[in-house]
Order: sequence, then structure tokens, then C-alpha cells
Amino acid sequence: MATVFNGLSFLQQRNSMPRLTGPGPDAAELEEMLQCAMRSPDHLRLRPWRFLSIQGDRRQAFGELLRESLLRRDPEADQGAQDKALNAPLRAPLLITVLASITEHPKVPAWEQRLSAGCAAFSLILAAEALDYGAVWRTGAFAEDQELVRDMGGAGNEEIVGFVYIGTRDCTPKAVPTMVSDNFHRVW
Ligand SMILES: Cc1cc2nc3c(=O)[nH]c(=O)nc-3n(C[C@H](O)[C@H](O)[C@H](O)COP(=O)(O)O)c2cc1C
Repeated sequence: MATVFNGLSFLQQRNSMPRLTGPGPDAAELEEMLQCAMRSPDHLRLRPWRFLSIQGDRRQAFGELLRESLLRRDPEADQGAQDKALNAPLRAPLLITVLASITEHPKVPAWEQRLSAGCAAFSLILAAEALDYGAVWRTGAFAEDQELVRDMGGAGNEEIVGFVYIGTRDCTPKAVPTMVSDNFHRVW
């Protein structure tokens, strides 16, 4: 398992990759990525993240759920839109749905738990890149659909924070933008 982790430069050059192909991570690499995600900052260790990994033929089954979700939202959706939903999971060999599992807690509000799950999604992306794969975080209207969570076997307190697509990069990555920290940072 080749890793390309290179500290600060690795973080500064991180680049989402929307075009992905096979091969994707194997079982051992998936486990490595999950171990990274499960080290996300987590107030009082509530472990508010869940991961559903979808690969192989299961991507078609998931596509069916996305099509049903689309038709719930828009019963008039045309064939093109339906096909787009159906085929969306085929855009990468591995798709990980990251959910926030929200628990009522006097010291840890729901927003903190959602952020922790978001950190877990980002950790998955960083881990994928460290393993020399490309990755991209997607959401869209599907991520707002609680019935989709239920259809995937999720619980009523689980919310989708993102679909992380992971695979081999299928095109030249776009240039990483030069960022000027003064535009976002000031000394207080
Ligand atoms: C919460 C969240 C949801 C996102 N949803 C989508 C999405 O549905 N579709 C999409 O193309 N990009 C989405 N993005 C943006 C991409 O993941 C990515 O950040 C963007 O293409 C910019 O590329 P970069 O990360 O390399 O700068 C989302 C990002 C975040 C943080």
C-alpha cells in the first residue's frame, strides 16, 4: 500500500477530483481510511459519525434509491434526470455516505455533532489522497432526504452530511488556487 503523505505540502495541495475511475481502494485501504475518519475531533466522544460504503453492484442498487428519492421530490422528473440519479453512484468505484448520528446531549449541541461528522468526511478525503486516490465530497438534494436515509437502513436520528466519492483519478487535476490568507484572516 503506497502512501504519498507529505505533511504541510500535502494539505496545501489537496485537490478534489470529480472524475474518478477504477481501481478503488481495497478492503485494507478502506479500513485505513475509516481509522483516520474515526479520529475526527469529537466533543465528549459521542462518536456522531456513521459510514456506509457502497461498491460494485451495490452502486446500482443505491442508484435505484436515488431515482426513487428524485421521484419523491419531483414526480414529473424526465427520463434524463432519472438516468442521472440512477447512474450517479457509478461515478466512482467507491462511494461512502457519511452520516451524522445526532444524540440529544446537554453539553454537545447537534451542530457540533454535524461538524464532527463533517470532519470525518474530510478525513476520508485526506486519507484517500494519502493513499494516492482522488476523492470528492458531494451532497445535493439527495442529502436532504430523510426517507433516503431510512431506505439505506439508517436510523431516524441520522442525517447525510455527504457522499464521498473515491477512486483513481481519471483526468489531470485542476490547478490548486493560490489563496491569500489576508483575505480570510486578521490578527485580533
Ligand atoms: C458540504 C459540501 C457539499 C458539497 N457538495 C457538492 C456537490 O453536490 N457537487 C459538487 O460538485 N461539489 C460539491 N462540493 C464541493 C466539492 O467537494 C469541492 O470542494 C469543490 O469541487 C472544489 O474543489 P476543491 O475542494 O479541490 O477546491 C461540496 C463541498 C462540501 C464541503
